[in-house]
Amino acid sequence: MKSIIIYYSMHHNNTEQIARVMAKTINAELVTPDKVKVFELHAYDLIGFGSGIYFGRHHKALVSFVEKLPALNKKVFVFSTSGKGVTGGYHEILKAALQQAKCEVVGEFACKGFDTFGPFKFFGGVNKNHPTEDDFEAAKVFVHSLLDKIPSSDTQ
Ligand SMILES: Cc1cc2nc3c(=O)[nH]c(=O)nc-3n(C[C@H](O)[C@H](O)[C@H](O)COP(=O)(O)O)c2cc1C
Repeated sequence: MKSIIIYYSMHHNNTEQIARVMAKTINAELVTPDKVKVFELHAYDLIGFGSGIYFGRHHKALVSFVEKLPALNKKVFVFSTSGKGVTGGYHEILKAALQQAKCEVVGEFACKGFDTFGPFKFFGGVNKNHPTEDDFEAAKVFVHSLLDKIPSSDTQ
């Protein structure tokens, strides 16, 4: 199975740390949106999309990248780190853009990330040690579970 993870991480590299663990676990390539050659995405069986959450949604660099994609007909997964560490409404805008690109979202992952935005910086930030070892372990289990959702002909 050939997989790639497209991520954007700008606040404290929280999402990049998670993306690296995921990529290592399933032997995926790891790229930022500005480095992706869209015409090459057809070669992948599974594509991951993740960033930190900024003002209730994924980073605009990732969302606008996805909004410009042609119909891909791919299985994809979505992930994020955030102050709250939940998928909830935070993933909806990116998921809607992926559905426009004819992608099937086969899984979602979220965890907390160190956050010094706004008033939090006056207290030294929140979620100080996140992502933690437990978060990395959960990310590994999550991506591993996705392999079952890819047709067996693609996993040879
Ligand atoms: C400008 C800005 C806006 C943010 N908005 C939210 C938000 O709406 N909800 C939330 O839970 N966390 C929010 N956060 C916290 C980040 O999502 C969190 O720190 C995340 O782990 C950052 O990921 P990164 O280090 O990969 O960029 C915000 C952080 C910044 C800097």
